[in-house]
Amino acid sequence: MDRQTFVLFGASGDLSKRKIIPALYSLYRDNNMPDKFNIVGCARSDWSREEFQQFVLASLGEFSRHRIDEDRNISNFVDKLYYVPFDATNIQDYHVLGDLIQKLENEDNLPQNRMFYLAMAPEFFDVVAVNLKEAGLTNVTGWKRLIIEKPFGRNFDSASELNDRVSTAFDESEVFRIDHYLGKEMVQNIEVIRFANSIFEPLWNNRSISNIQITSSETVGVEERASYYESAGALRDMVQNHMLQMLMMIAMEPPSRLNTEAIRDEKVKVLRSLRKYSEDEILTNVVRGQYQGGKVAGKDVVGYLDEPGVAPASTTETFVAAKLFIDNFRWAGVPFYIRTGKRMQSKTTKIVVEFRSTPEKLFFNKDSNLSSNTLTIFVNPSQGMSLSINVEQEKSGVVEPNVIDFARETKNSPEAYERLIFDAMNNDSTFFTRWDEVSLAWKWIDPVSRSFANGHPMHSYESGTTGPAASDELLASDGFRWWN
Ligand code: BG6
Repeated sequence: MDRQTFVLFGASGDLSKRKIIPALYSLYRDNNMPDKFNIVGCARSDWSREEFQQFVLASLGEFSRHRIDEDRNISNFVDKLYYVPFDATNIQDYHVLGDLIQKLENEDNLPQNRMFYLAMAPEFFDVVAVNLKEAGLTNVTGWKRLIIEKPFGRNFDSASELNDRVSTAFDESEVFRIDHYLGKEMVQNIEVIRFANSIFEPLWNNRSISNIQITSSETVGVEERASYYESAGALRDMVQNHMLQMLMMIAMEPPSRLNTEAIRDEKVKVLRSLRKYSEDEILTNVVRGQYQGGKVAGKDVVGYLDEPGVAPASTTETFVAAKLFIDNFRWAGVPFYIRTGKRMQSKTTKIVVEFRSTPEKLFFNKDSNLSSNTLTIFVNPSQGMSLSINVEQEKSGVVEPNVIDFARETKNSPEAYERLIFDAMNNDSTFFTRWDEVSLAWKWIDPVSRSFANGHPMHSYESGTTGPAASDELLASDGFRWWN
């Protein structure tokens, strides 16, 4: 891996503390960092280098999957940390940063390879990108790359404007848009499961599959993020990115080669085939909801409207379920149901592929409890797969579903952020979102968010449940049910 300087904007923030700093340290511990590198943190806090190093140690103590008290060489990592107090709108601060990076590159004999990571409020994404260029930091003899967190815009127009501004300083091939679901082990595994096993591909179509369900439910509420969440809602927070990314992975055609652009080309075709709904169709195919008080894991919790920072009459959705169709040869007529929400019964992300039923009534006795075959991919928190098949119970003549399970050991396995940062450092953008994916995702979302702004029915659901009844009805009307 190339020697490089990693510049982290928003270094004192929550995301850096919980995810990015622990990821960098884990990569270091597992010998997945270059043999020479520096990390420069930038944030508003008026810290010294030592204060930043202390912050990093405290973050690692709390959030790293490695125990730092067992690392006798932790000072080697800490020695690579530098800090610049930084105001993203002040061009002078970019010069200070640029001087420090250059000085370190000279002293440590590092090539001018610069990774800029924007882990800050989205309104600064383009400001930083443009100012980096303005102040000459992108003028390098090596390479430059930009990692951008979500949200990338809040609709197609704003995303497009942001993209135009970013691309004045960074080429598309240098931009790494993060969707951390694409860093999850089992999401990355979808293409392996599908394309490295000859038993699935012949069945992976509308002749054998009756419907596919993608669920990402959480037990947490809005936490301390009301100021962001109030203007995002579940649609922008989860559906535009994570849910549509999982849909693309599960529905894409086999790529001509297993390389970055071939894979992303196939993913984007899924979005091109995604059926666009009229206003009336949005009303019948998209359900939104908001949590009320209730009990989650035995604890009483308040409703969304009583959460700190939430407007008393807020119409922000905390739950979305939708029925989608991919109008192509493979998937014609197969509904894809997606569902995501906060304060639900369990924390789980999974994809269920339900196969068509056999003409069972002809063959089995009435006590049999035949169920459709399902293939479930567990993404989070457990990782693995299960296949449900019908088997006769011993000598009874009664057939019942049995499950073949494969579970992945998750203890101490690399986190999504580790995989993604590692990939970006290696210039591999396979699991990052390309601009055409982002723009098409917004084009599908925009009419739905307009419907939400114009009085789309809001269903309430009790905290600790599987969401509003309307979400169950979405499937019941097609003769299906959620596999909970
Ligand atoms: C984030 C959302 O992108 O994903 C959060 O902003 C959500 O609202 C989180 O809680 C869920 O991620 P995970 O990895 O815990 O499923």
